[in-house]
Amino acid sequence: MYRFCVAALAGPLLSATLAMAEPLPGELPVDPYEASNENAGAAPLENPDVFVAFHGQAGIDRIVDDLVDRVIVDPRIEGIFRASDLVRLRRTLKEQFCYLLGGPCDYTGRDMVEAHKDQGITMREFNALVESLQLAMDTEGVPFAMQNRLIAKLAPMQRDVVTR
Ligand code: HEM
Repeated sequence: MYRFCVAALAGPLLSATLAMAEPLPGELPVDPYEASNENAGAAPLENPDVFVAFHGQAGIDRIVDDLVDRVIVDPRIEGIFRASDLVRLRRTLKEQFCYLLGGPCDYTGRDMVEAHKDQGITMREFNALVESLQLAMDTEGVPFAMQNRLIAKLAPMQRDVVTR
């Protein structure tokens, strides 16, 4: 009995599993998966100056909205996003960037392999998206050195995102 109680209490404390976030109105259902910050693909930055340089959650929200607005009209990659749930994409990207930048957020989306496995993304297309991200960060007034802190977190994810 004692052992059962320890397991029952320790399980939720030790596990990295997160409660699934409440979907936003308009989000489409996805196949079940386990939500975990590990799905974000990298550990968060520890220097609190970076989150401040991105103007906190509000700045990250503006950057992600600008990024998504750009990629869905970029002739090099817009086709890849045509069938996507952009409400979910904006929400999960905001969570992911906030988490990676050391903000007070959990990432509740799918891991990078799972999210991109059916997209057939090339390295050129990956670079096109990063270009839009850089323009979005410029527009927000994020200093170049701080921009590079986020880019450095995202660059190794090409291994999971680029499949062709
Ligand atoms: C490091 C770079 C990237 C990051 C961090 C990233 C992040 C994400 C995230 C968080 C999601 C949503 C996951 C979820 O729904 O649970 C997602 C989905 C998606 N990403 Fe990326 N992504 C990256 C690169 C790219 C690139 C280069 C493309 C195409 C040019 C792309 C196309 C897509 C598409 C189309 C979806 C939606 C998939 C669906 O509707 O099921 N991503 N990505």
